[in-house]
Amino acid sequence: MPETEFLSLQTDHIQILQQRYEQALKAHGYDSLLISSGAAPMRYGDDQSWQFQGYGPFLHWTGLAGQEHSWLLIRPGRTPLLWLYQPVDFWHANLELPDEPWQQAMEVRFSDSRGAPSMEKSGKLAVIGDPAGLADVLGEHNPAPLLAALDETRVHKTAYEIACLARANEIAVRGHRAARDAFLAGGSEFEISLAYQQATGQREAEAPYHSIIGVNEHAGTLHYQYYDTQAPERPRSLLIDAGVRFRGYCSDITRTTPAPGERRFAALVQGLEQLQNRLCEMVAPGVEYAAIHRKTHQGIAALLSAAGLVSGLDDEALVEQGVTRAFFPHGIGHFLGIQVHDVAGKLEPSPADAPFLRLTRTLEEGMVVTIEPGLYIISSLLDPVLNGPLGKHFDHEVIDDLRGCGGIRIEDNVVVTADGARNLTREMGG
Ligand code: GLY
Ligand code: MN
Ligand code: MN
Repeated sequence: MPETEFLSLQTDHIQILQQRYEQALKAHGYDSLLISSGAAPMRYGDDQSWQFQGYGPFLHWTGLAGQEHSWLLIRPGRTPLLWLYQPVDFWHANLELPDEPWQQAMEVRFSDSRGAPSMEKSGKLAVIGDPAGLADVLGEHNPAPLLAALDETRVHKTAYEIACLARANEIAVRGHRAARDAFLAGGSEFEISLAYQQATGQREAEAPYHSIIGVNEHAGTLHYQYYDTQAPERPRSLLIDAGVRFRGYCSDITRTTPAPGERRFAALVQGLEQLQNRLCEMVAPGVEYAAIHRKTHQGIAALLSAAGLVSGLDDEALVEQGVTRAFFPHGIGHFLGIQVHDVAGKLEPSPADAPFLRLTRTLEEGMVVTIEPGLYIISSLLDPVLNGPLGKHFDHEVIDDLRGCGGIRIEDNVVVTADGARNLTREMGG
């Protein structure tokens, strides 16, 4: 998409937000809304702060994920008013603002004060943000019904948001290619991380979440958080779950690469990839997201049998007796947007058979979701099954061998369209 078209979508986005926020304020009886960007807290007993990433509603308007101590005032029928914290400071640099249309759609003032701006009192004011930064701020803090309504404004993405998510995918896909190449060249987890950051041009601290880079058995820890600086003697598998932010918007992509010669593991990766493609094809308006999750369990049951890991139990029994949950313990995915696990996914609690499912809604046009089936050898979940009454149905030798490959996850970012879906990750060649 040409830059001019992209930027004109940004102007439309701000207009749509103004309408959506005005409706939410009116419905809940507020005359204005002050949004805090937030600020990084200091580490206890230290003079260093935690890495900062801004509050969702502030990013929704500005995309400025790294801007602290700033405030945005929204009033019906008035231009949004933005106070950006830009102190005179010889220790730190101020953020250079990109030259983008959202600034023309707002009145931007620069402030050297970290506190909330002083404003004339006019009607009922709601203030939202991290309560730690709101102590002395006048107005009603974080009223829950309004927050829920504002979360809802993030569910159906504008064309601009979808364009941002597509760009976040394009950049992350480059990173995933570089990561795979680094693994196949014998790189350690740390070197794979460097290759990913180099190719995406984004420091890990700025990414929407800490990249998960697991080689061999580390791939079986769902949110593996360390990086070995030495590659193992026999690299067998790589699982990398990593995204980037683009103008505040996140990608969240996972790929699993078998090392050359890992034929059994490669066949499982291929089987899971075929299942993942079928699940992505299910995404469409009117579809219950939980139905995609349940379909995943059926598909994993079939894959376990086809790969010879289990025999003598039919697919239904594998699901009903919790065997598939031991291999695939997490949910099939979540909303994606300004936050990697974007808000408002659960109007109802997760169903009993899917306790970790973060999204329980019926899909509608404009929603953006991840589809991320996995199949792991996690000893704490699997060993009780292997050592229990169903144990005789498993090929223990094959499973023991696969422990050294850890697990598989394949994750794409998918937009619900009027009549189906757009897979942003595959579109970008991922
Ligand atoms: N990267 C975390 C997740 O996939 O949900
Ligand atoms: Mn992920
Ligand atoms: Mn995800």
